Amino acid sequence: MKRTKVVDLLKDPALIGTEVEAKGWVRTRRGNKHVQFVQLNDGSTIKNIQIVFDMAKFSDEELKPVTTGSSLCVKGILVESQGKGQTCEVQAESLLVYGTADVEAYPLQKKGHTLEFLREIAHLRPRTNTFGAVLRVRSTLAFAIHKFFNERGFQYLHTPLITASDCEGAGAMFQVTTLDLNNLPKDEAGKTDYSQDFFGKPTALTVSGQLEGELGATALGQIYTFGPTFRAENSNTPRHLSEFWMIEPEMAFYDITDNMDLAEEFVKYCINYALDHSLDDIMFLQEMYDKDLVDRLKFVVENDFVRLSYGEGVKILEESGKKFEFPVHWGTDLQSEHERYLVEEHFKKPVILTDYPKEIKAFYMKQNEDGKTVRAMDVLFPHIGEIIGGSEREENYDKLLARIEELGIPMKDMWWYLDTRRFGTVPHSGFGLGFERLVLFVTGMTNIRDVIPFPRTPGKAEF
Ligand code: 4AD
Ligand code: MG
Repeated sequence: MKRTKVVDLLKDPALIGTEVEAKGWVRTRRGNKHVQFVQLNDGSTIKNIQIVFDMAKFSDEELKPVTTGSSLCVKGILVESQGKGQTCEVQAESLLVYGTADVEAYPLQKKGHTLEFLREIAHLRPRTNTFGAVLRVRSTLAFAIHKFFNERGFQYLHTPLITASDCEGAGAMFQVTTLDLNNLPKDEAGKTDYSQDFFGKPTALTVSGQLEGELGATALGQIYTFGPTFRAENSNTPRHLSEFWMIEPEMAFYDITDNMDLAEEFVKYCINYALDHSLDDIMFLQEMYDKDLVDRLKFVVENDFVRLSYGEGVKILEESGKKFEFPVHWGTDLQSEHERYLVEEHFKKPVILTDYPKEIKAFYMKQNEDGKTVRAMDVLFPHIGEIIGGSEREENYDKLLARIEELGIPMKDMWWYLDTRRFGTVPHSGFGLGFERLVLFVTGMTNIRDVIPFPRTPGKAEF
C-alpha cells in the first residue's frame, strides 16, 4: 500500500471507508484507557489528521513511544469523524514507530514557545505550525515568481555568486579567499598579494546580480534572476539579513514607467497567488499573529499604488509636523520611519517614489535632465517600508563613464559592463525585490529572521 499525504486524506471524499496509510510526526496525544487520539502532521498542510487508537486492539506498551515529535506509520480505515474539529480520521489497525522523541529532551513539547526561543532551535522550528505555515507560503511565493515571469516570456538567468565587482557600490561585501589568513603573501608594497589568491584577484560574494542581469537583458530582451545575495552591513534590524534572496528582472526597451507598471503587476500577482494557493496557512497566521492580514493583502492587490517623486515625498514629510527620529530634508536618504509615514499614515496605500537625488543612489541609474536626480524607483509597503528598489539604467556611454569616474569606481573592473553601452546600447530598466520582505508582508510576521529557514545576521550563522 502507498502512503497518502495528510493534505489528501483530509480532502479526498473517495478515500472515506478505504484502508489508508498515514505517515508523519506526532503533534499531540491524549485520551483514556479505552481510546487514544493522536494528531499526526506530515508538513503537507497546516492541518493534522487524527488517528484513533482503540485500546482494545493496542497495548499501552505499543503506544508508549508515541509521544510528541515521534514519527509514525499508521495503517487503518479512513472514516468520517464523530468528534468536532476535523472532517475525517483514521481508525488505526497497525502502528509502526519509525523514531522516538524523548519527552525530557524534545524541545517542542509544549505549545506557545516565543519566536525568539524558536530562533535558537531553527533546526527544529519547521515542525511548528507557525514555521510550517511560513515555509509553505514562502515556497508558494517562489513558485508564483517563476510562473509570473515564465508566462511573460522572461528568461531565468543565473548570475554568479562570486564576483569581483560591487554592484551597489556600498562596499558591504563578504570577501572570498583561499589565502592563509595567518600567513598572507605580500607584494613589494607590503600589501596582500592577491595574484596568489584562488582567482588571482580579490573576490567577494555578490550583493546583486543586476550588472550581469543587464548583460542578459541586452541580449535576451527580458530576464530575471532569483538567487541568494549577501550584504556585510552591520544592520541589526527586523528587515535586514546578511544573506537574503533577491529577484531581479531586467528589461530592454523599458523606461521607468514600464518598470513601475511591471513592479506593481508583479507584486500584486504574487500576493494574489498566495491568497489563492496558501489560504489555510495565511488564515492560521492571521489568527495567531495579525488580525488584519487578509484585509491588508486584499487591499494592496485591489488598489493602485500611489506614484510620486522623492521631492514631493520629502515635502509631505517636512509639512507633516511629525517629529521623526532622523530629520528629513531634500538630499537625505529616507529611513524606514519616513517611508512608513508616507505609506501608513499619509496615503494609506503602497507608494512608488521616483527621481531620487543622485548622491544617494547607485552609479548605474539614468540621470535626469535636471542634473540632480536619477530615474530611481522604490516601492514602499505598509509594515515593511522599501520592498523593491530599481531604476531606468543610464544607457549613454559617456554619461555612465563620467559618473563612474566621478565616484572613483575602478574602471578596470567595469570594462565588460561598459561594453553594453558601447555595442548596441538600448534604453533599459530593472528592479530588485527582496524576497524575504515579500514573505514578511504576506505572512504578517514582524521579524525577517522568521521568514527564512536559517537566518544569517551579524554574529549569527548557526545551522
Ligand atoms: O535596493 P537594493 O539594494 O537594490 C539593488 O540591489 C538593485 N541592484 C536592484 C535592481 O535594480 N536590480 O535591493 C533591492 C531590494 C530592496 O528593496 C529590499 O527589498 C531588499 O532587496 N534588500 C534586503 N532584504 C533583506 N536584507 C537586506 N540586507 C536587504 N538589502 C536589500
Ligand atoms: Mg534600495
